[in-house]
Amino acid sequence: MHIWAVANQKGGVGKTTTVVTLAGLLADQGHDVLLLDLDPHGSLTSYFGYDPDALEHSAYDLFEQETRTLDQVLPLLQSSSHDRISLIPASTAMATLERKSVGAEGMGLMIAKALAQLWDRFDYVLIDSPPVLGVLMVNALAACERLIVPVQTEFLAIKGLERMVRTLTMINRARSQKLRYHILPTFFDRRTQASMQSLRSIKRNYPDEIAHAVIPVDTKFRNASTAGVVPSALDSSTHGVRAYGMLLRWLQTLDKQSGSDGQQRS
Ligand SMILES: Nc1ncnc2c1ncn2[C@@H]1O[C@H](COP(=O)(O)OP(=O)(O)OP(=O)(O)O)[C@@H](O)[C@H]1O
Ligand SMILES: [Mg+2]
Repeated sequence: MHIWAVANQKGGVGKTTTVVTLAGLLADQGHDVLLLDLDPHGSLTSYFGYDPDALEHSAYDLFEQETRTLDQVLPLLQSSSHDRISLIPASTAMATLERKSVGAEGMGLMIAKALAQLWDRFDYVLIDSPPVLGVLMVNALAACERLIVPVQTEFLAIKGLERMVRTLTMINRARSQKLRYHILPTFFDRRTQASMQSLRSIKRNYPDEIAHAVIPVDTKFRNASTAGVVPSALDSSTHGVRAYGMLLRWLQTLDKQSGSDGQQRS
C-alpha cells in the first residue's frame, strides 16, 4: 500500500483537485484507492456528495483514541462515484482538533497507525490536508511516504512555497527517514508572464524537488467537481487530466526506482 499526501500551507492551489484526479487515474489502472479527507472544510468530502456538517462518523473518530482496530476503522469508509475509490470523509468538527497539541503523546501518529490497519485493503491511500500547519497536517506528513506540494504558478505563490519548504525541512530534521516531497506547478497558463516567470523561478530554486509534470489551467476540473465524478470519468483526454497522467507515471517510476512497492497486499 502506497500512502501519498497532498499539502500546502496556501489555500486554493489545487490540492483537492490533485487528490481526486490522481485517484481517478489510479482507479482506471485497476487499483483500489482510499481517499482520506483531513481538511475540516471537507471539500473532498463534499466533492463526493457528503455533507461535512452532518456526518456522524468521519476521520475525526481516528483521533479519539490512540489505537484503532480494523473493526473500528472499516465503518468509517464511504463509497464514492467510482467503485474502486473509497473515502474516509472529514467533518467540520475536526477543526477543534487543531487546538490539541501536536506534542501530546502519540498525537502526531494517529493517522499512520489507523492506516496501518488497512494495508492489505488498498493499493493507494491519498490524503488531502488542510492549509494549516497543525495536528492534521502533521499527521498527514507523518503517515505518508511521498508528499505532493501543489503550487499555483503566480507571483505570490513562491512566498507561500518558501514557507512550506521551511516547514518540511524542519519536519525532516526530526525524521529518521526523510519525507520525499515534489513541488507540482498548477494553474499554468503559458500565455501569461506570471505563469512563465514563476515556473522558471520554481525550476531554478527547487531543481531537485520540482515534479516532472506541470498542470495547466483547465476549466473541465470545475465541471467534474460539479458533477461529483473524478475528472478522468468525465473526459480523460483534457489537457489537465493528461498532465496528471504524466505526474502519476513519473511518481510510479520513482517508486519503482527506489524499490518501494509500498506494503505488499496479500
Ligand atoms: N488546473 C486547474 N485549472 C482550473 N481550475 C482548477 C485547476 N485546479 C483546480 N481548479 C479549481 O480551482 C478551485 C480550487 O481548487 P482546489 O479545491 O483543488 O484547491 P485546494 O488547494 O484544495 O483549495 P483549499 O485550500 O480551499 O482546500 C476549484 O474550484 C477547482 O475546481
Ligand atoms: Mg482542498
